[in-house]
Amino acid sequence: MTDTFRIAAMSGSLRHASYNRGLLRAAQATAPAEVTIEILEVDLPLFNEDLEEAEPASVALFKKRVHGANAVLIATPEYNWGIPGGLKNAIDWCSRPPARNVLKQKPVAILGATTGPWGTTRAQNALRQTLIFTDSLTLVQPWVFVNNAKEKFDDAANLTDERTKEQVAGLVAALVAWTKRLG
Ligand SMILES: Cc1cc2nc3c(=O)[nH]c(=O)nc-3n(C[C@H](O)[C@H](O)[C@H](O)COP(=O)(O)O)c2cc1C
Repeated sequence: MTDTFRIAAMSGSLRHASYNRGLLRAAQATAPAEVTIEILEVDLPLFNEDLEEAEPASVALFKKRVHGANAVLIATPEYNWGIPGGLKNAIDWCSRPPARNVLKQKPVAILGATTGPWGTTRAQNALRQTLIFTDSLTLVQPWVFVNNAKEKFDDAANLTDERTKEQVAGLVAALVAWTKRLG
């Protein structure tokens, strides 16, 4: 029997019909049987350094899921050329306190969808920069920049574009291979 490979997937958007959560559902649908992808919502309380030693229960659960995963997959929208505050907040919680940084040495892959023409390139650059300080092992390529999202998803935010589905599946395969290579 093959061991299960567990991916904790963060959706950077809280929106009900989020294209980015749709990307993560597509990752679930196209993943091989031995890969499980759990989608985590970033609706956590605002980070407060006074609370980091005795973190709120919702944060502790979120961090436990990230810690227990073999790898992390982050789908981010682009908000004003950056990543959404909710996603940054979740990453800040995950990184603290330093001795309990659950993103440290964690393999991470990123992707993102936007209704605009640039496909979250600027947000993904910002995310990569943040993941340097968390000491995460961020996969460099393949890049998955999903632009003009309205044309690639249906009304329920399910991914319909076949090429993008292949890109998402390719990213998950690369994340699994990257994690195994790191040991
Ligand atoms: C506050 C805000 C800022 C945005 N800024 C950008 C931006 O800088 N670049 C971009 O391509 N799209 C921008 N958008 C459009 C988002 O790409 C679009 O709303 C997208 O659908 C959000 O992802 P979601 O579907 O996962 O919620 C912005 C949207 C909001 C709400």
